[in-house]
Amino acid sequence: MSPDDLLGRAAAVAAGGPVEGSTSSGADVRVGVDLGTANCVLVVLSDERPVWVGSAGSGALRDGVVVDFAKATTTIRRLKNRAEEDLGLELRTAATAYPPCIPENDAKACTYVCETAGFDDVALVDEVSAAGRTLEVSDGVVVDVGGGSTGVGVFRGGELTALDDRAGGGHHLDLMLAGALDLPLEDAEPYKRAHPDEAFPILVPGLQRIAENVRALTVGHEDLPLHIAGGALMIAGAEKVLAKYLDRTVVTYPHALLITPLGIARSAERTPR
Ligand SMILES: Nc1ncnc2c1ncn2[C@@H]1O[C@H](COP(=O)(O)OP(=O)(O)OP(=O)(O)O)[C@@H](O)[C@H]1O
Ligand SMILES: [Mg+2]
Repeated sequence: MSPDDLLGRAAAVAAGGPVEGSTSSGADVRVGVDLGTANCVLVVLSDERPVWVGSAGSGALRDGVVVDFAKATTTIRRLKNRAEEDLGLELRTAATAYPPCIPENDAKACTYVCETAGFDDVALVDEVSAAGRTLEVSDGVVVDVGGGSTGVGVFRGGELTALDDRAGGGHHLDLMLAGALDLPLEDAEPYKRAHPDEAFPILVPGLQRIAENVRALTVGHEDLPLHIAGGALMIAGAEKVLAKYLDRTVVTYPHALLITPLGIARSAERTPR
């Protein structure tokens, strides 16, 4: 299944559309848990096909790091319970992910959240490698710009050769918008989505700052195209700002918010039913 096809199916499942997959006995079920700064997402794959996708804002993470353990756990437990009820099966194993380059203990916190939420066996991967698993990039740079952080992974010959991360994402764009329009911060996010044409010119310097971070994180790899994951660059025109600032090819995907969660699920152990 191509990345666009996989992402389209996942988006349809997330929107409550028909599920073309089975969780009947013999199917391989895999679960991914993305603990994001803006969104926590739980994905269930059955034989590679998305059969359940749910998300919730938790307010329990900052710049990709768990800052409220109890809130994060409650959010994941609720998503897990909903998935189990809808699918009529118990989900015991999962994979989860951390932003690259955070301290080891912060990364382990992601595992503990999932274990406390009720998973017995939790694999831990970094978010950028996970995004790379969805996009199946052989030679290119995978850039995951989420709510709080920008992660960058360099792939050559199908191998991940460099990995780095910086704070900066959609939340920082919201701060700029709130400041420029004199809006409360919580109103900046819905404004950005409802009025992209008005928001875009205000956000160009913030998008250039994200581009500058990507430049600094990919020195020596300027020959490779950029593949964009995460929600922060979903505002129309963002990819053109990056392409112009960096003078590089920028590849975008539909439903970019789901790239990392799907890749995390692909990183999980297969559990035959
Ligand atoms: N349609 C849209 N237009 C502009 N921005 C959007 C849109 N949809 C989502 N976003 C932005 O995407 C961000 C969330 O992206 P994503 O879900 O990838 O982040 P996350 O995984 O929660 O964060 P992180 O990976 O940094 O911990 C939010 O900051 C939000 O403003
Ligand atoms: Mg993310």
